Parts: sequence; C-alpha cells; structure tokens
Amino acid sequence: MIRDLTDEQARAAFPLKWGAVAPGVVPGWVAEMDYRTAEPVEEALVAAVRRGALGYAPFGDGGLGEAFAGFAERHWSWSPPADAVLPTSGVMTGVRLALDALCPPGPVVVPLPCYPPFRDAVAIAGRELVPVTLDPDAAEAVLDLAAVEAAFAAGARTFLLCNPHNPLGRAWSHDELAALASLARRYDVRVVADEIHGPLVLPGAVFTPYLAVDETAVVVTSASKSFNIPAVHGAQLVLLDPADRAVVAGLPIPAQHDWSSLGIVAGVAAWRDCDDWHAALVDRLAAQRSLLGELLGRYLPAARMRPLEATYLAWLDLRAYTVDDPAAAGLEHGVRLAPGADYQPGLPGHVRLNLATSPNRLEDMVHRLATALTPADS
Ligand SMILES: Cc1ncc(COP(=O)(O)O)c(C=O)c1O
Repeated sequence: MIRDLTDEQARAAFPLKWGAVAPGVVPGWVAEMDYRTAEPVEEALVAAVRRGALGYAPFGDGGLGEAFAGFAERHWSWSPPADAVLPTSGVMTGVRLALDALCPPGPVVVPLPCYPPFRDAVAIAGRELVPVTLDPDAAEAVLDLAAVEAAFAAGARTFLLCNPHNPLGRAWSHDELAALASLARRYDVRVVADEIHGPLVLPGAVFTPYLAVDETAVVVTSASKSFNIPAVHGAQLVLLDPADRAVVAGLPIPAQHDWSSLGIVAGVAAWRDCDDWHAALVDRLAAQRSLLGELLGRYLPAARMRPLEATYLAWLDLRAYTVDDPAAAGLEHGVRLAPGADYQPGLPGHVRLNLATSPNRLEDMVHRLATALTPADS
C-alpha cells in the first residue's frame, strides 16, 4: 500500500528535498517522505482539478472539522466538536496567528531543541523567547517542569509545545501534559500546541491530544505531514472556546485568508478515507525505525538515538565521534542530514535523520555517515 518512489520519481515529486542535493546524494533532511500520498487523497485532488475546483476556499470549513473529529475519535478516542476546526494555510501560519491574535503579551517559553521556525515565529511576533533547554546527556527527554514553572513565575505567559516533539521524537505522556496544563492554569499561561506529528505515533507509544488535558489551548495541526501533502496548503486551528473562534473569524483578510480549497479537499480525504493507508504507513515507519537501530549498531555503535516514539525524524547524538558538525561531514560523503545546531544553537555533534525512505536508502545514509565520521574504518 505504501508506494515507494525511485530516485528519479522522488526528484520530480519533491523539488525541495531532492532538488537541494546533487545527484547521487541521499537526502535525509527536510521532513517529507519518499512515498506517494494515499490513493484516496490523490484521487480527490485529481478529481477536484478535473472539475475545475481551483477557486477560493468556501466560507466555513468545507467538512474539514467533521472529517478531523472522526479521525480523532477513531485514533485517539477523543471527540472534539466539528465546529472547533478553523482552516488556515499552514501550521506555522497558524502558530503565528495564534501568537498575534490569541495569546497574552509577554515572553514565550520554547523547549529546546525545537523545530527552527518556532524561534522565528516568536521573533516575528516581537516576543522574547525563554528557552527551556534539554541537557543532551539527560537519560530521558522529559519536559523540565521546574524550569517551565520558573519561566512562568518570571512572567512568561505563552508556551509553545510541539506534541509529539520534533526533533526529539517524544510522544509526551498524558501525565507530563496534565502537569504542564496544571502549571499553565496556575500562571494563566496559554499553550499553543503544534500537533502536526500527532498521527505519526509509532507502536509502543500513545498520542495525547493536548486539548484533552487543557481546553483553553490553541492547537494547530494538519494532515500535511502524515499524508505527505504540504503542497496543498491546508492546515487547521482547533479551538474549543467559541470566543477564540470568533476572534479568528473576525480577523481581516491579510491576517488569515490564504488557505487553499485543494487543501480542504485533501484534508477531508486524508482524515476521513485513509485509515488503511495510515496503518500501513505506521507499519513501514516502525520497520524503518527497527532497521535504523540495526544499522547504527553495525556502522555507528557509539551513536545514541533518542527512543523514537513518534515522527519519522530520528535525533542522533554523535558526539562520541568528536566531529562538531556531523551533517557537514556527511554531506561530503553523499548524505544530507539536518544539523543539530539548527534545532539548538551551539549544540555540537547532533543530527536529525529522516528515515521515511526505502530500506536501501536508509542503509546508504547510515553507511555514508559512518564513513564520514570514522574515516580510518572506511
Ligand atoms: C513541528 C512542525 N511544525 C510545522 C511544520 C511545518 O508545517 P507547515 O508547512 O504547515 O507550516 C513542520 C514541518 O516539518 C514541523 O515539523
């Protein structure tokens, strides 16, 4: 059911991921999968284009909320009301909008490492960023609630959560999220939760929708990551409070208008019609996760991989190989990975590796990285 793309097909399909590397280099950086999207999504988009449905998106949500509520109920046993969903064009657009229109003034807490545009979004909003930084030697990647509370006590009033977490691969537990929610309540903090990786929780872990523990939060999500369709620009805010929804609905056009009618078509098909494909995807990603573990054991035994509970983005600590920028070293040996310092400025010896590709390419990536980091053994 998962349709792998050849190099040539992937180069045509993903001009960013594959176009940014020279032929022969394996791209394992940006978060796109080397697979075609689910057939129902493809068919819905082709049918929409054939009927000329290339106009502006309709008023309302075009059925997105109902489709999402069904997915949430089937997969997470959580039932948001369908009218809690408001379309927007992208997850980062939604995060920016939330910071501008729905969050109190004051500093914003961001756990580090983080998806780099989080830091940019806080800067664009003109807010001070308060980092809560994970010690790379910590045994487990848990939320440092004492540091979070200190930031709230010092005046921060917004928390930017990535649930599940890119790049750490954590699916935060219900208890951790409930503890964060209780702190947020105590200090009157608003949590903005980016849940784009929510459907990508792998066997052994559980996804807790943050709104299930904190009804006042702003959730921003999209089918774009799990169904590999960022081109269609369809994302959504999930707001349980009708007053929040009224604020967003009342925003002027330049602040919130540019979601795509094709994004709605694709999002409805993805949330509603693709459970079999989604199950096959999770199986494939779990197999790739196991393979990555074996390959690291064989080629890079001193690498430390954070347990990958969710996402297809592995966070690798390669400090044992004493190369400050392993991504740069890898690129010289034919693999492009994302440098760890992009996620946590100043952090040496880490990379983020995208494993959503074929088993062969994954082996090439790890082997080439090993050649780069252990030249004497190559
Ligand atoms: C955590 C996270 N948020 C947002 C995005 C991007 O979403 P969008 O393209 O809808 O802004 C990504 C892409 O990888 C991501 O990992």
